[in-house]
Amino acid sequence: MNILTLHDPENIFNISEQGKERFLNSIQANIISSHGRKFARFIFVTFFQNKEQSSLEWLSEFDLSSEWFQLQSKKDFLRKEKKSEKSSIKNIYLTHAGYEFLRIKKEFIPTDLKFMNGMHNSELNDPPRDEWEEWAREDCHALMALASDNEDVLEKLVEDIAKELKGMAVLKIEEGHTFKNKFGKTAEHFGYADGISQPVFYEKEGVLSRDLTSLDSVLVKEHGTTVDAFGSYMVFRKLEQNVKKFKESEEKLNQFLNSINQEDEIESGQKKHKDIAGGLIFGRMESGSPVFLEDAEENHDVNDFDFSFDPKGTQCPFHAHIRKTNPRGDKVRENLLSKAGEKAVRIARRGITYGQRDFEKEKVTGEFPEENVGLLFISFQQDIKAQFEIMQNIWANNNIDETLKINNSFNNHDPIIGQIGSEKPQPFPWYKIDGSVGTFSLPSFVKMKGGGYFFAPSISFVKNIKEKSEIIS
Ligand code: HEM
Repeated sequence: MNILTLHDPENIFNISEQGKERFLNSIQANIISSHGRKFARFIFVTFFQNKEQSSLEWLSEFDLSSEWFQLQSKKDFLRKEKKSEKSSIKNIYLTHAGYEFLRIKKEFIPTDLKFMNGMHNSELNDPPRDEWEEWAREDCHALMALASDNEDVLEKLVEDIAKELKGMAVLKIEEGHTFKNKFGKTAEHFGYADGISQPVFYEKEGVLSRDLTSLDSVLVKEHGTTVDAFGSYMVFRKLEQNVKKFKESEEKLNQFLNSINQEDEIESGQKKHKDIAGGLIFGRMESGSPVFLEDAEENHDVNDFDFSFDPKGTQCPFHAHIRKTNPRGDKVRENLLSKAGEKAVRIARRGITYGQRDFEKEKVTGEFPEENVGLLFISFQQDIKAQFEIMQNIWANNNIDETLKINNSFNNHDPIIGQIGSEKPQPFPWYKIDGSVGTFSLPSFVKMKGGGYFFAPSISFVKNIKEKSEIIS
C-alpha cells in the first residue's frame, strides 16, 4: 500500500518504509489524523473494586482501532461500508487513577505531572469540581471513545460494551453529533465552521509548511516498553455554549461596530464588511474565511497567513479566538517565544459537538438554546502543560502576572474560551476603520461542565496490559 510520509524531521521515531505499517498499527486512531466520523459516544468507565483481574482481561481483549486501520478505512472498499460496524472507530484512554486501579507497574505509568494530578487540580480558572456534571466529579478509570457514520451501529456497540461490563463497572455516557452550518461546513453551535486549522503530520502535496508538524508534538514514547510503542496525552472538556447569549451579543456588537464605522466609511469611501462582529470574535467568519480578507465571505478555509501584516491587531483583534490559540508570529514579534517555540504549543483538536438542535424551529421562533448544547473538546499533545495549558490558561485566560501584560497579545482574554472566574461582561477593544479604538463589553458564552486528563496508550500496551500489571493471574 502506498502510504504518505510521516513528518519526523529529527528522525525521532526511526520509521523505515517497511516499519511504517507496524508503527501505525500500534498507534490508536484519531490521534495523528482525524477519523471524521459523524457520530461519537464517550463512555466513562469506573471499574468496581475487586474486579481488577477481569478489567485487565476485558481491556486486553478489546478490539482497538489503529491509525493504520483508519487510513485503510478511507479506501473505497470500506467507504462503501462506511455505515457498517466494520468501519467504526474504537479507542480507549486511561486516567492516572485507572493505571493505579489496574496496578500497572510503576515503570509503565505515564509521568506527566498534570496527567497524574488531573485537570481538577490544575489552576485553569474553571468552576470548582463539585459544580461539574456528575460524570466528572469523581475520577473514572478509563474513557472509551466510539465513532461511526451510523448512529444505530454506535448504539449497538454501546449496548454490547454495557453487556460485557455488566457487574464490572459503572458507565457514564456522553454523545457527540456533527452538524453542518449554512455554508455546508462542519460547525460549532454558534454557527462558525470548525476544524479548519490543524497541525498536519503527513507530508503530502499542498500541506502548508506552517501546518506540517513533527510527530513528536503529539506522540509520546511509552514508558518501559519497546521502541515502537507510542501514546499521546489527551484532554477532554465538556464546554456548554449559550447560543442565545452569543447571538444577542453578536447582534449588539454588530450594531455598535456599524454605528462607529459608518461616518468614517462615508468619509473615506472605504467599503468595509458589515456585520462582522462574530468574525472578529473568532477571527474567522461563519464560512471559515479569515475575517480580515476583503472578500471574506467567499474565501473559505484559507489558512496560509500569519499576523505580521497586522502588528496592532486592527484587522483581526489580538483577542480573536484563532489569534489567542494560534498567535502566528505575535509571540515571536514580542520576543516571548522563538518561531519553533510558538509552533510547539499547537495541539491536534479532535472534538465534536453535543446536544440536539431543532434548526427549523429556531428559524421560525428566533429562539436559541441557552444550555445543553456545546462542544466535547478533545485535544492530543505530547505535553499537557506545555501545550494545552499554555494555550488555555496563559493565552486564552490571559492568566499571567499583571506586570507582564505589556504586550499587545496579552491585553485581553479569549471571549470564547477564556475562563476568568466571573460572569460579568468584560470590556474589549474594537478598532474603527480610522484606527481609533472603541470599547464594547462581552459576557462569557461558554461554561466548562467537566473534564479530565487521559493517556491514549499504544495498542500493543493494551493488548499486553496483563503483563504490565502487578496482579498475577
Ligand atoms: C465551545 C468552545 C469552542 C468553540 C466554539 C471553538 C470554535 C473554534 C472555531 C470556530 C475555530 C476556527 C476554525 C478552525 O480553524 O478550526 C477554532 C479554532 C481553534 N480553536 Fe477553538 N473552539 C472552542 C474551544 C477551544 C479550546 C478549549 C481550545 C484550546 C484550549 C481551542 C483551540 C483552538 C485552536 C488551536 C484553533 C485553531 C487556531 C488556528 O490555528 O488558527 N478551541 N475554534
